[in-house]
Amino acid sequence: MSQIIQRSTGPSPTNSDPVSPQQAVGNSISEPIRASIQTPVLLESIYEPIKQELIQVEAILHRELTSDAPWVEQLLEHSRLLVGKRMRPVFLLLSGSNCGEITEAHLHCAASLEMIHTATLIHDDVLDEADTRHHVPTANSRWGNKVSVLLGDYLFTHAFHLASFSGSTAAMRILAVASNRVCAGEMRQNAWVGNFDLTEDEYLMIISEKTAELCSCGCRLGALLSGADETTVARFEMYGRNLGIAFQIIDDILDLVGQPTNVGKTLGTDITNKKPTLPVIHSLANLDDARRNKLKALLASGEASVEDVMPFLLSTDSIVYSRDFAAAYANKAAEFANELPTNKFSTALENVANFVLERSH
Ligand code: IPE
Ligand code: IPE
Ligand code: MG
Ligand code: MG
Repeated sequence: MSQIIQRSTGPSPTNSDPVSPQQAVGNSISEPIRASIQTPVLLESIYEPIKQELIQVEAILHRELTSDAPWVEQLLEHSRLLVGKRMRPVFLLLSGSNCGEITEAHLHCAASLEMIHTATLIHDDVLDEADTRHHVPTANSRWGNKVSVLLGDYLFTHAFHLASFSGSTAAMRILAVASNRVCAGEMRQNAWVGNFDLTEDEYLMIISEKTAELCSCGCRLGALLSGADETTVARFEMYGRNLGIAFQIIDDILDLVGQPTNVGKTLGTDITNKKPTLPVIHSLANLDDARRNKLKALLASGEASVEDVMPFLLSTDSIVYSRDFAAAYANKAAEFANELPTNKFSTALENVANFVLERSH
């Protein structure tokens, strides 16, 4: 414990060069893979106003994800490779910057939130039997499910330890409640696997819990820790929720039409795992009876591939419909950002809404 406390109060990073999270990871990802990970211009413009804070969050994550115990360190080394877009810290830091000063508490909560996100992905890859994530083999494909469960648990528990350094019981409660809802969302989804009568509202319940929760949590925490009043905190939280919903719908579209080299994770898993997502739900609702029964039988067989399903989805314009559906949520978030006083932080929040729709990874 004392070792962890020492690490958690260690020196601040001195690196002052602007870096994206992908660059900040150090040399752990091999050069050919790194070269293939492009940070889009829009994403760079989102990182720009908070780049120093993101560097500090990266430093906290890197420092905390180490251990003297070799059997722990081997797995933490893997978790240090799992560098994604860092959207949840971005939500937290941009919301905080829009409402006031960024403090140590913001940085600890942002690192904690990202660690929780990583833990959910490690467990999610077990559930989805995914082989690749962040351009590297998943923990479950390297070491099996048992090790993945342990690594996810380690990250979850360490994240709450880290959050305690914020000194805010309110922040810790918000992180705990949000994590709990993500788990409930994954349970709901698991319970509804293979249910091809799922409605749009039921789908929205799943994605609101499993994905939008951590996005809204980031925005809420950022605003709260900057001293915003209750109404403002709630408005930032709603911004995060709307974008989180849009984010997952786009993720579900990418699962069907994304480029594996861009996305860097196993695609097509929603079809193979019989998880009904918006394009499939919309298509089933709009096909004639004969075609609907054919698609349902195909999906229920567990043998369907994306190629098999795609002609049905295209015939009902379900990819376009789903993108428009996501755009409606992203636009609500963009409207909110647009109403904020104009500055580099509110502009970045508006850019996040555009990025969520345009992203290819
Ligand atoms: C992946 O989230 C899981 C979903 C909620 C769709 P991200 O796309 O934000 O994960 P990173 O960027 O790889 O960490
Ligand atoms: C999001 O769902 C996972 C969590 C919120 C934990 P997905 O299963 O669609 O996420 P990816 O596609 O594996 O990243
Ligand atoms: Mg998954
Ligand atoms: Mg997905």
